[in-house]
Amino acid sequence: MNNLLDFSDKTVVVIGGTSGINRGIAELFARKGARVAVASRSQKKVDDTVESLRSCGAEAMGFCADVREPAALAAGLVTVHTAFGLFDVVVSGAAGNFPALLTQMSANAFRSVIDIDLIGTFNVMQAVYPYLLKPGASVVNISAPQATIPMAAQSHVCAAKAGVEMLTRCLALEWGTEGVRVNAIVPGPIDGTEGMQRLASGDAMREATRDSVPLRRLGTPQDVGNACLFLTSELGSYVNGAILPVDGGWLQSGAGDLGRMLSKLVRRGTEPVLK
Ligand code: NAP
Ligand code: COA
Repeated sequence: MNNLLDFSDKTVVVIGGTSGINRGIAELFARKGARVAVASRSQKKVDDTVESLRSCGAEAMGFCADVREPAALAAGLVTVHTAFGLFDVVVSGAAGNFPALLTQMSANAFRSVIDIDLIGTFNVMQAVYPYLLKPGASVVNISAPQATIPMAAQSHVCAAKAGVEMLTRCLALEWGTEGVRVNAIVPGPIDGTEGMQRLASGDAMREATRDSVPLRRLGTPQDVGNACLFLTSELGSYVNGAILPVDGGWLQSGAGDLGRMLSKLVRRGTEPVLK
């Protein structure tokens, strides 16, 4: 079993891998022996992450790219291919979020999240495809509960992540015939992350969120990383097109509570139209 989770001599690329959940995923692959490349917009975050991956004993590199810019992605991925060869695993998890009602958002605000989460995933998929044509290669897209649970103040994220999940399932069909598996993970509320900070900051919201998880704990980046290891290893070799929640059961009940809390938060000081 342990050998199946050995990623020595495998190349893993984590887009948006320089903080939070995705960085946790990158570090776990590094500890499992993989060569790891990360990318995001901030050079400082890329440099810090590469240093940390190297301190895990891994060969590591990184590049700066905004997933909204296909040319920057292509240029960075060429350098990874030159240094590390074809890709065994791609994790695509760059995302943006802020709580806002539809009426509190400009078209550009709505579009920015669609551009990063959904079109960004499309851009990443197109850019990595030429480097994935290798037996056993696979992709994990990072989705969110918003893809299937409608939440107030999250219409932009709900729309974008629903698209990410459907894109994942369509690519499982298109690329499955070539032996490349495409799956998605749906993290629940993951402690200490930017996502939690933006949506459930403060002790009261954090505790309410924890209490709405059937397992009564918040998740960790390692919880999500463990599921990534499974999906991308031999253990997951017949799993394709799966949308895997890693959330302590939050999607079954509880995730909707976050939408209700956010609704109260963003409406503060405004009169509801219907009482
Ligand atoms: P995070 O720390 O903000 O991570 C986002 C990562 O993406 C960072 O490395 C960021 O680095 C990069 N990024 C953002 N915009 C980008 C862009 N336009 N182009 C390239 N890279 C970009 O967030 P997180 O909370 O850990 O969330 C990570 C993923 O998990 C997201 O897909 C999120 O939707 C999902 N998720 C999170 C939670 C949660 O509880 N946190 C729950 C469900 C799902 P730069 O700033 O350097 O670009
Ligand atoms: N409420 C309403 N609108 C908001 C907003 C908020 N809280 N925050 C940003 N916006 C709007 C901006 O005003 C702008 O619209 P405008 O041009 O009409 O004024 C639009 O969103 C884009 O903002 P900008 O800051 O220019 O975009 P960006 O591309 O630099 O950043 C974000 C994208 C807004 C998603 C930014 O929060 C981000 O980079 N997030 C990445 C990290 C993250 O969200 N992590 C959590 C992942 S779950």
